[in-house]
Amino acid sequence: MRKPVIAGNWKMHKFVGDSVDTAVDLKRSVSGATHCEIIVAPVFTALKSVADRLEGSNVSVSAQDCSTEVDHGARTGEICADMIADSGAKYVIVGHSERRQFNGETDQSVNAKIRAVLQHGLRAIVCVGEDLRQRESGDAERVVAEQLAGGLAGLTLADMERIIIAYEPVWAIGTGKTATPEQAQEMHAFIRRRIAGSHSRECADSTRILYGGSVKPGNISDLMDREDIDGALVGGASLDAESFASIVNYK
Ligand code: PGA
Repeated sequence: MRKPVIAGNWKMHKFVGDSVDTAVDLKRSVSGATHCEIIVAPVFTALKSVADRLEGSNVSVSAQDCSTEVDHGARTGEICADMIADSGAKYVIVGHSERRQFNGETDQSVNAKIRAVLQHGLRAIVCVGEDLRQRESGDAERVVAEQLAGGLAGLTLADMERIIIAYEPVWAIGTGKTATPEQAQEMHAFIRRRIAGSHSRECADSTRILYGGSVKPGNISDLMDREDIDGALVGGASLDAESFASIVNYK
């Protein structure tokens, strides 16, 4: 049985105070939820304050990125995975499409970041997904297969136990245009087959695959009904504690 994961990606939103307030409201609203893992990803400056306030609760904290470097050193502006662990966060989102698009993230850097995350005892939420042109030209599966092959290259079965995949079609992110549950299910099943091929059937069966892209309180349960959809990575609708709590309580 794969335990569902509902993760909120706050992107570049909220000051420290607002991040903490939202986290505290969320903690209160989801305190009884045991059916899924709950994660929030604030900006770096709010990581520690949010993690401190959520300590001992059923809500974990994630960073939105980290350095490819495993050791501390001369990398102005970068943040090492062990500094993220030191803040109290347990997860790092790696390879989000916005970082691929605006920050030159490649499958090679995604792979290096995953290794840094795992080496420092954290877990990675690894994002993959095609853009509109790629989907319309029938290339979606090839693109996702390439991202998986490059991003997960060389990872062992033990490494994979600490990896969550997020399928986020770029054309559905922040656009209000969600993939249909059928489209998402089809790609999730494809991703699972690829992991079975690259790792093992057992590994594929136990890997959580989240859907991301305009997930809202109104569409979460139809998505969660699908066999291979194990949760959601939520952007806009996670910024408000009440809306995110109703996504967490999708059942
Ligand atoms: P969205 O973002 O829910 O606002 O579409 C999802 C994401 O980018 O993780």
